[in-house]
Amino acid sequence: MRTNKWVWDWFAKGYAKAPVADEAAYQEKLEITRTYLTPDSKVLEFGCGTGSTALAHAPYVDQIRATDVSRKMIAIAQSKADAKGVNNVLFEQVDIESLDAPDGSFDMVMGHSILHLLDDKEAVLARVHDLLKPGGVFVSSTVCLGNSFWFIKPFLMVGRFIGVLPLVRFLDQDDLVKSIEDAGFEIDQNLAMSQEKVAFIVAKKVA
Ligand SMILES: C[S@@+](CC[C@H](N)C(=O)[O-])C[C@H]1O[C@@H](n2cnc3c(N)ncnc32)[C@H](O)[C@@H]1O
Repeated sequence: MRTNKWVWDWFAKGYAKAPVADEAAYQEKLEITRTYLTPDSKVLEFGCGTGSTALAHAPYVDQIRATDVSRKMIAIAQSKADAKGVNNVLFEQVDIESLDAPDGSFDMVMGHSILHLLDDKEAVLARVHDLLKPGGVFVSSTVCLGNSFWFIKPFLMVGRFIGVLPLVRFLDQDDLVKSIEDAGFEIDQNLAMSQEKVAFIVAKKVA
Protein backbone atom coordinates (compact mmCIF):
# COMPACT_ATOMS: atom_id res chain seq x y z
CA MET A 1 0.00 0.00 0.00
CA ARG A 2 1.37 3.43 -0.95
CA THR A 3 1.90 6.22 1.61
CA ASN A 4 -1.31 8.03 2.47
CA LYS A 5 -0.27 11.60 1.77
CA TRP A 6 -3.61 12.99 2.99
CA VAL A 7 -2.76 11.84 6.50
CA TRP A 8 0.49 13.79 6.36
CA ASP A 9 -1.28 16.82 4.88
CA TRP A 10 -3.61 16.65 7.84
CA PHE A 11 -0.67 16.60 10.31
CA ALA A 12 1.33 19.36 8.60
CA LYS A 13 0.14 22.45 10.51
CA GLY A 14 0.50 20.78 13.90
CA TYR A 15 3.87 19.33 12.92
CA ALA A 16 5.16 22.79 12.02
CA LYS A 17 4.13 24.17 15.41
CA ALA A 18 5.35 21.27 17.57
CA PRO A 19 8.68 21.79 19.38
CA VAL A 20 11.58 19.44 18.58
CA ALA A 21 11.22 16.46 20.94
CA ASP A 22 14.90 16.44 22.04
CA GLU A 23 16.60 19.74 21.13
CA ALA A 24 20.07 18.72 22.41
CA ALA A 25 20.06 15.51 20.35
CA TYR A 26 18.76 17.42 17.30
CA GLN A 27 21.61 19.95 17.53
CA GLU A 28 24.15 17.12 17.94
CA LYS A 29 22.79 15.41 14.81
CA LEU A 30 23.04 18.67 12.85
CA GLU A 31 26.65 19.14 13.99
CA ILE A 32 27.68 15.59 13.10
CA THR A 33 25.99 15.86 9.71
CA ARG A 34 27.83 19.11 8.99
CA THR A 35 31.20 17.37 9.36
CA TYR A 36 30.31 15.43 6.17
CA LEU A 37 29.28 18.51 4.17
CA THR A 38 31.34 20.81 1.96
CA PRO A 39 30.38 23.98 0.06
CA ASP A 40 30.18 21.79 -3.10
CA SER A 41 27.86 19.18 -1.61
CA LYS A 42 24.74 18.15 -3.49
CA VAL A 43 22.23 16.81 -0.99
CA LEU A 44 18.90 15.01 -1.19
CA GLU A 45 16.53 14.87 1.76
CA PHE A 46 13.43 12.67 1.52
CA GLY A 47 10.54 13.00 3.97
CA CYS A 48 11.78 16.52 4.75
CA GLY A 49 8.54 17.51 6.51
CA THR A 50 8.37 21.26 7.04
CA GLY A 51 11.99 21.72 5.96
CA SER A 52 13.78 22.69 9.20
CA THR A 53 16.75 20.35 8.72
CA ALA A 54 17.29 21.19 5.04
CA LEU A 55 17.14 24.91 5.86
CA ALA A 56 19.60 24.47 8.75
CA HIS A 57 22.16 22.83 6.41
CA ALA A 58 21.56 25.15 3.44
CA PRO A 59 24.38 27.64 4.28
CA TYR A 60 26.97 24.81 4.26
CA VAL A 61 26.25 23.22 0.86
CA ASP A 62 25.81 23.95 -2.82
CA GLN A 63 22.29 22.60 -3.22
CA ILE A 64 19.64 20.60 -1.37
CA ARG A 65 16.73 18.86 -3.05
CA ALA A 66 14.26 18.44 -0.21
CA THR A 67 11.28 16.22 -0.93
CA ASP A 68 8.17 15.06 0.85
CA VAL A 69 5.01 13.22 -0.15
CA SER A 70 2.80 15.86 1.53
CA ARG A 71 1.84 18.98 -0.43
CA LYS A 72 1.10 20.86 2.80
CA MET A 73 4.43 19.98 4.44
CA ILE A 74 6.19 21.26 1.30
CA ALA A 75 4.10 24.46 1.22
CA ILE A 76 5.09 25.25 4.82
CA ALA A 77 8.76 24.41 4.09
CA GLN A 78 8.74 26.71 1.04
CA SER A 79 7.20 29.58 3.02
CA LYS A 80 9.97 29.17 5.64
CA ALA A 81 12.62 29.26 2.89
CA ASP A 82 11.02 32.37 1.35
CA ALA A 83 10.91 34.11 4.75
CA LYS A 84 14.62 33.36 5.33
CA GLY A 85 15.63 34.21 1.74
CA VAL A 86 17.14 30.75 1.24
CA ASN A 87 17.45 29.95 -2.47
CA ASN A 88 19.63 26.82 -2.64
CA VAL A 89 16.96 24.43 -1.32
CA LEU A 90 14.56 23.06 -3.90
CA PHE A 91 11.42 21.84 -2.13
CA GLU A 92 9.40 19.33 -4.09
CA GLN A 93 6.31 17.23 -3.45
CA VAL A 94 7.15 13.67 -4.44
CA ASP A 95 7.26 10.35 -2.61
CA ILE A 96 10.66 8.71 -2.36
CA GLU A 97 9.44 5.67 -4.29
CA SER A 98 8.74 7.89 -7.37
CA LEU A 99 11.66 10.30 -7.12
CA ASP A 100 13.25 10.93 -10.50
CA ALA A 101 17.02 11.52 -10.42
CA PRO A 102 19.98 9.93 -12.19
CA ASP A 103 22.07 7.42 -10.26
CA GLY A 104 25.14 8.92 -8.58
CA SER A 105 23.59 12.41 -8.28
CA PHE A 106 24.21 13.17 -4.61
CA ASP A 107 27.06 13.46 -2.10
CA MET A 108 24.64 13.00 0.79
CA VAL A 109 21.11 11.64 1.18
CA MET A 110 19.23 12.35 4.42
CA GLY A 111 16.14 10.53 5.66
CA HIS A 112 15.06 11.57 9.14
CA SER A 113 12.13 10.04 11.04
CA ILE A 114 10.99 8.24 7.94
CA LEU A 115 12.53 4.76 7.60
CA HIS A 116 10.06 3.38 10.15
CA LEU A 117 7.17 4.77 8.08
CA LEU A 118 7.96 3.09 4.77
CA ASP A 119 6.14 0.14 3.22
CA ASP A 120 9.36 -1.24 1.76
CA LYS A 121 12.41 0.28 3.41
CA GLU A 122 14.75 -2.24 1.72
CA ALA A 123 13.68 -0.95 -1.72
CA VAL A 124 14.18 2.65 -0.56
CA LEU A 125 17.63 1.87 0.88
CA ALA A 126 18.64 0.28 -2.43
CA ARG A 127 17.43 3.37 -4.29
CA VAL A 128 19.30 5.68 -1.89
CA HIS A 129 22.45 3.65 -2.53
CA ASP A 130 22.02 4.11 -6.29
CA LEU A 131 21.39 7.85 -5.92
CA LEU A 132 24.64 8.44 -4.02
CA LYS A 133 28.02 9.04 -5.62
CA PRO A 134 30.71 6.51 -4.65
CA GLY A 135 31.94 7.59 -1.20
CA GLY A 136 28.68 9.47 -0.56
CA VAL A 137 26.87 9.21 2.76
CA PHE A 138 23.37 8.31 3.87
CA VAL A 139 22.43 10.08 7.12
CA SER A 140 19.34 8.85 8.92
CA SER A 141 17.64 9.27 12.26
CA THR A 142 15.04 6.63 12.99
CA VAL A 143 12.70 5.88 15.85
CA CYS A 144 13.41 2.27 16.85
CA LEU A 145 10.82 1.16 19.39
CA GLY A 146 11.58 -2.56 19.10
CA ASN A 147 9.37 -4.39 21.60
CA SER A 148 8.61 -1.34 23.75
CA PHE A 149 5.33 0.59 23.56
CA TRP A 150 3.68 -2.63 22.23
CA PHE A 151 0.41 -1.51 23.85
CA ILE A 152 -0.09 1.32 21.31
CA LYS A 153 0.14 -1.10 18.36
CA PRO A 154 -3.63 -1.90 18.24
CA PHE A 155 -4.42 1.85 18.27
CA LEU A 156 -1.96 2.42 15.41
CA MET A 157 -3.37 -0.52 13.44
CA VAL A 158 -6.95 0.70 13.78
CA GLY A 159 -5.88 4.26 12.89
CA ARG A 160 -4.07 2.96 9.81
CA PHE A 161 -7.06 0.78 8.82
CA ILE A 162 -9.54 3.67 8.94
CA GLY A 163 -7.06 5.99 7.23
CA VAL A 164 -6.36 8.55 9.96
CA LEU A 165 -2.84 7.39 10.91
CA PRO A 166 0.17 6.47 8.80
CA LEU A 167 1.90 3.10 8.80
CA VAL A 168 4.32 2.97 11.76
CA ARG A 169 6.75 0.07 12.06
CA PHE A 170 8.41 -0.89 15.36
CA LEU A 171 11.98 -1.31 14.15
CA ASP A 172 14.83 -2.92 16.03
CA GLN A 173 18.10 -0.92 15.90
CA ASP A 174 20.29 -3.96 15.05
CA ASP A 175 17.91 -5.03 12.27
CA LEU A 176 17.96 -1.51 10.87
CA VAL A 177 21.77 -1.49 10.80
CA LYS A 178 21.72 -4.86 9.02
CA SER A 179 19.25 -3.56 6.40
CA ILE A 180 21.50 -0.57 5.72
CA GLU A 181 24.58 -2.81 5.44
CA ASP A 182 22.69 -5.24 3.20
CA ALA A 183 21.97 -2.33 0.85
CA GLY A 184 25.73 -1.98 0.31
CA PHE A 185 26.70 0.60 2.93
CA GLU A 186 29.47 0.65 5.52
CA ILE A 187 28.38 2.09 8.87
CA ASP A 188 30.47 5.14 9.78
CA GLN A 189 28.56 6.20 12.92
CA ASN A 190 25.77 4.51 14.83
CA LEU A 191 24.52 6.43 17.87
CA ALA A 192 21.59 5.59 20.10
CA MET A 193 19.97 8.87 21.15
CA SER A 194 16.92 10.13 23.02
CA GLN A 195 16.81 7.40 25.70
CA GLU A 196 18.07 4.83 23.15
CA LYS A 197 14.83 5.15 21.18
CA VAL A 198 16.37 6.86 18.14
CA ALA A 199 19.12 5.45 15.93
CA PHE A 200 21.26 8.13 14.28
CA ILE A 201 23.27 6.39 11.58
CA VAL A 202 25.80 7.70 9.08
CA ALA A 203 26.48 5.09 6.39
CA LYS A 204 28.99 5.33 3.54
CA LYS A 205 28.59 4.04 0.01
CA VAL A 206 31.85 2.26 -0.56
CA ALA A 207 33.90 4.17 -3.15
C1 LIG B 1 7.68 12.02 11.01
S1 LIG B 1 7.75 13.13 9.68
C2 LIG B 1 9.49 13.60 9.68
C3 LIG B 1 9.72 14.94 9.04
C4 LIG B 1 11.17 15.42 9.11
N1 LIG B 1 12.06 14.56 8.38
C5 LIG B 1 11.62 15.52 10.55
O1 LIG B 1 12.57 14.81 10.93
O2 LIG B 1 11.03 16.30 11.30
C6 LIG B 1 7.69 12.06 8.29
C7 LIG B 1 7.61 12.81 6.97
O3 LIG B 1 7.79 11.87 5.92
C8 LIG B 1 6.86 12.14 4.89
N2 LIG B 1 6.66 10.88 4.17
C9 LIG B 1 6.04 9.76 4.61
N3 LIG B 1 6.14 8.78 3.70
C10 LIG B 1 6.86 9.30 2.67
C11 LIG B 1 7.31 8.78 1.42
N4 LIG B 1 7.03 7.53 1.04
N5 LIG B 1 8.05 9.58 0.60
C12 LIG B 1 8.33 10.86 0.98
N6 LIG B 1 7.92 11.41 2.13
C13 LIG B 1 7.20 10.64 2.96
C14 LIG B 1 5.63 12.67 5.59
O4 LIG B 1 4.84 13.45 4.75
C15 LIG B 1 6.28 13.48 6.74
O5 LIG B 1 6.48 14.82 6.37
